[in-house]
Amino acid sequence: MKLLNLFVTGILMITIVACGGDNPSEKKSAPAKSMVKKEATKKVDPMNSLGVGPITSPLTLGALDNDLAMKGKKLYEAKCTACHKPDKKYIGPAPKGILERRNPAWVMNMILDPERMIKEDPTAKKLLMEFNGTPMANQSLTKEEARSILEYFRTL
Ligand code: HEC
Repeated sequence: MKLLNLFVTGILMITIVACGGDNPSEKKSAPAKSMVKKEATKKVDPMNSLGVGPITSPLTLGALDNDLAMKGKKLYEAKCTACHKPDKKYIGPAPKGILERRNPAWVMNMILDPERMIKEDPTAKKLLMEFNGTPMANQSLTKEEARSILEYFRTL
């Protein structure tokens, strides 16, 4: 009896699965969804993307603040040079010219919450792949500290 029950359930399941595949509305909606996704990733321009994290609005960079940049240089040398060289690719990318490639807020978010960035931000995800899955380290900086490093990056 048990065996018969199993058999009948099995047949039922096969029928359900087989019929599911023929559902015309499913077939129609699937490609449409993936096209929307492709469109969305295509449109991301790293220069305009703020990324995700504690910085949620664009930063206004005024005239270069040399004192702030010097503070940033010191911090960068203490916390970042294990993986970054200022002007060449090392374990991570070179920050030289970064503001020609990335939005300032994006850079701040990458410094302040790299974990969330590599999970949710398309540009950061791509970067992680380019660097063979080596993740950017969270150095637990404050916003002010990250901002000083950003100022230093402007001088490179
Ligand atoms: C343990 C190594 C490591 C340390 C320490 C580290 N980084 Fe990174 N960083 C990386 C790697 C690897 C990437 C690229 C891959 C990724 O994003 O996950 C990266 C990416 C970045 C990016 C994005 C670069 C681009 O071209 O878009 C910025 C900005 C950055 N790091 C800044 C910093 C700053 C500032 C510090 C110090 C406070 C720091 N990093 C410390 C490894 C590190």
